[in-house]
Amino acid sequence: MVTANGGINQQRVAVCNAVAVARLLNATLVLPKFMYSSVWKDASQFGDIYQEEHFINYLKDDIPIVKELPEELRSLDLEAIGSVVMDTDVIKEAKPSFYLKYILPILHLNKVVHFVGFGNRLASDPMPHELQRLRCRCNFHALRFVPKIQETGAMLIRRMRQNDTGLGHLDPYLVGQYAQLKKKGEKDSPPKKSRYLALHLRFEIDMVAHSLCEFGGGEEERHELEAYRKVHFPALVEQKKTKKLPSPKQLRSEGLCPLMPEETVLMLAALGFNRRTHIYLAGSHIYGGYSRLNALTTLFPNLVTKENLLTPAEIEPFGNFSSQLAALDFIVCTAADVFAMTDSGSQFSSLIAGYRIYYGGGKMPTIRPNKRRLADIFERNNTIEWKVFETRVRKAVRQNKRVFSRPVGRSVYRYPRCQDCMCNTE
Ligand SMILES: *[C@@H]1O[C@H](CO)[C@@H](O)[C@H](O)[C@H]1NC(C)=O
Ligand SMILES: *[C@@H]1O[C@H](CO)[C@@H](O)[C@H](O)[C@H]1NC(C)=O
Ligand SMILES: *[C@@H]1O[C@H](CO)[C@@H](O)[C@H](O)[C@H]1NC(C)=O
Ligand SMILES: *[C@@H]1O[C@H](CO)[C@@H](O)[C@H](O)[C@H]1NC(C)=O
Repeated sequence: MVTANGGINQQRVAVCNAVAVARLLNATLVLPKFMYSSVWKDASQFGDIYQEEHFINYLKDDIPIVKELPEELRSLDLEAIGSVVMDTDVIKEAKPSFYLKYILPILHLNKVVHFVGFGNRLASDPMPHELQRLRCRCNFHALRFVPKIQETGAMLIRRMRQNDTGLGHLDPYLVGQYAQLKKKGEKDSPPKKSRYLALHLRFEIDMVAHSLCEFGGGEEERHELEAYRKVHFPALVEQKKTKKLPSPKQLRSEGLCPLMPEETVLMLAALGFNRRTHIYLAGSHIYGGYSRLNALTTLFPNLVTKENLLTPAEIEPFGNFSSQLAALDFIVCTAADVFAMTDSGSQFSSLIAGYRIYYGGGKMPTIRPNKRRLADIFERNNTIEWKVFETRVRKAVRQNKRVFSRPVGRSVYRYPRCQDCMCNTE
């Protein structure tokens, strides 16, 4: 059993890692549960987000999956018999040998193990081919959103495309039967003409506060972020007192600060996006709120969020479920003609980038700026001319645009281009 913590993206990774661990241990998997988090405040369970039957059936030749713990095990006090395994009991990125040595004996003794949390608890390497492949099958094939999410996701995509009825490259994988259907008498769906860019601007207060950077908001901003850190990152506040940490200026020049909306706008403009570009902004809790968003909408008036695209009645069924709202963002970003991220460390952006590689046939670019080089361009020269700026930004982005094979130790979800995942070996 596994009860995954974190938001929907962490949960997705935990689920597929649990599938691999179940296979490693020759165990049956109980349909994963999701832990209620005080951050995400969403009580959604697996079946509220993913199609249960498809998940079970798709993986049936790999591992048996059951909906509930079998009757005879239900009465056990798992905690008392030592079958509850917390994140603190498993090293981060644990290797298969860890599970064979420490977890298999519990399974043999008690017939059941319950992982609670399971965040980032299985290494990318070394991993037997068969298990890596299974993680890949799980992430890219076994997890399908439920019709409620697919239907609204499809509606969002269609509206982003200005009602264009052409079929997008990834649509069928994302929204299943709700993808644009062929009209009677048509051989193929007509090619889609309307395009949009999706932007994941990771500039929420948690990230902003954690970075220890400054964003031009002066004394007020410093107070606000320090207050937030006191509540949410007490260890960081402690470190700030006792250790000599890099100054905000140093952090900025090393490209360690989250990209500000103002910088993101400049980057996109330098890449050639303009007032006519339709932009979908994922998430929507930008730190600094509307005044900060203004930078984006002034230059890109065709920028919208799911809150703009859906009527109150259409979004209402998702209102209490941040994970399901994030699933809608996942669909619209993955289906976009171009996806731009500002933070390559974000699990959300990583999963989307991976999906676009896996299903995109090389036609679904992801913009991932090299923040250090961008910082260089933004910081060093106050008198830079637009043409020079443009050239340098394009260079800084192009450098990170290439799709390459999975480097050792990196996630198969983010870098599916490898023998265990995208490439047929025999
Ligand atoms: C799982 O089953 C396979 C095939 O029956 C066997 O080779 C392997 O040793 C088993 N692994 C464990 C951990 O029991
Ligand atoms: C798309 O269709 C809807 C409903 O028919 C309509 O309200 C909307 O204005 C259309 N959008 C565009 C850009 O044509
Ligand atoms: C959301 O939560 C509020 C308050 O708990 C409740 O009144 C409302 O019915 C819920 N909406 C849905 C769609 O579940
Ligand atoms: C600033 O940019 C100008 C041209 O745009 C260039 O001539 C100058 O050398 C740059 N200065 C620095 C410090 O990079």
